[in-house]
Amino acid sequence: MSAQSPRPIDRGVVEVDGRAIPLPSDPMTLLDLLRDHAGVRSAKDGCSPQGQCGCCTVLVDGTPRVACVTPARRAGGRVVTTLDGLPADRRDAWCDALAATGGTQCGFCTPGIVVRLEAAVASGHDVAEREVVDRQLLAHLCRCTGWQTIREAAVEIASGTDASRPARDTSAATARAELEGGAAQLVGRDVAAGRGGFAIDTAPPDALVAVPLADTDDPADPANWVLGPTVAAARDASGKVQGRRTTRDHTWPIPAPEGEFVATLRTTWTEPAALETDTAWCEPGGDPVGPLTNGGGFGAKLDSPVAAVARSLADREGVPVVAVWSREDTVRFGSKRPPLAAGVRSDGSGVAHVARAAGVAELVASVLPDWEIVEVDVPGPPTSVALRGAVVFELATLARAAERTPELGADVSASFADGVLRLRVDAGDPLDPVVLRSYVIGAAHAAWSMVTSEALTVDTDGTLLDLTVRSFGLARAVDTPEVEVEIVDGDGPPVSSQLAVMVAVADAVWSAAGRPDHWPIDAELASTLRAGGAE
Ligand code: FES
Ligand code: FES
Repeated sequence: MSAQSPRPIDRGVVEVDGRAIPLPSDPMTLLDLLRDHAGVRSAKDGCSPQGQCGCCTVLVDGTPRVACVTPARRAGGRVVTTLDGLPADRRDAWCDALAATGGTQCGFCTPGIVVRLEAAVASGHDVAEREVVDRQLLAHLCRCTGWQTIREAAVEIASGTDASRPARDTSAATARAELEGGAAQLVGRDVAAGRGGFAIDTAPPDALVAVPLADTDDPADPANWVLGPTVAAARDASGKVQGRRTTRDHTWPIPAPEGEFVATLRTTWTEPAALETDTAWCEPGGDPVGPLTNGGGFGAKLDSPVAAVARSLADREGVPVVAVWSREDTVRFGSKRPPLAAGVRSDGSGVAHVARAAGVAELVASVLPDWEIVEVDVPGPPTSVALRGAVVFELATLARAAERTPELGADVSASFADGVLRLRVDAGDPLDPVVLRSYVIGAAHAAWSMVTSEALTVDTDGTLLDLTVRSFGLARAVDTPEVEVEIVDGDGPPVSSQLAVMVAVADAVWSAAGRPDHWPIDAELASTLRAGGAE
């Protein structure tokens, strides 16, 4: 790319977006240098130092690099270009295209993706081609959008962006995003640029960084956290748990219930895997900021302890404190969907054995009041029904096998044939069809991913064996079918589409697979489905 420096640069400095940043003598990653020494905020830490999510992607002498696994010294004498340093017209074109297609929601993944795709364009790749974009996206994860709207933005870029887009009602778009996401959520160019207001980015520059001790199993107790001047220093002091994955297969921990059923389903633990890890900061005597500043982590952050810890430590230390979970912390401490084993009878009633989770019986009773819920103790990570559609999603999908369709808000029909998911969605007043469609595709992707590939391996004693972001089975762009969405211009009050879309999609995909008795279904069968077979 044009970021290649035409002149020699002192090897003792890194040129970051046109600024000479002295190379510190301490060993550190390029991501640490960018965030802690150059003040860059567009390069994000979604899994550092695993190098697996792509959120920290920047250009080094014009070539995309994952900054969290690049030693800073390797960038000595080189030109580093972040999203902020791309030519403004190109950066804005990408961000506008992503906002126009709905290809960004929380925006945490987006700067890294833009940097990589712009480098692909600059090196002559045709990003109008799905295969080209999907290959570039192999290095990235996006948990919100379901990928398709990112591809659509790339098509816009390849064809020249549309300068005549109609103005959007930002407040209506924001209202739809918040209804779908269940948390504060901005919409627009700044979000695509990674400026959605994440707590790790808005914390005061002089804030102390707090991270949990590696050997703690109680991250809600501030005594179990370590403080440092930077994220890297605090993690060093904590003895940070290293990312790892197991070669062992996951299991389905709860036996199927006894009885006469038309269909049964067993599930295992899955990781919500919001790419922004739980983070909050607080001034002494103040109110915490985060972790729900720009998206709700699919419900996983609702019961996070980081805000209370940041407040407690700030009050104790008398200075601002930002409390940060690493990817490994988020997996170890964050809530999972409760595993279950359930069966549905021909009359639509059923029984479900569910890993114990506060409020699960009441939650299911609100949707399937005649179902018997048995809570069982299963050694494993914490569970929560706050996660998007937890338990209700799985049981409502199972109920469809007996042609029972619980009321779930939006009116959604779905079919899956020839490797294409087709959806018709009436969620009342769309408010902003672009945002609604984006969240519909994101929910469709979430359902597809849970039915076909997501699982965490947990030992019989409850120890979680998968701590890397690529070990959760999250469906990549190449794994994901095309989704066609018809948004009905409903005249009712706006309602969330999320749960109804997830159930309709899971039902369509699972029935196309022949309703095997477990999720995720076998990998080979999932691959056959994606290729358009097995219906
Ligand atoms: S933070 Fe570097 S790849 Fe995830
Ligand atoms: S927009 Fe991609 S992770 Fe949220």
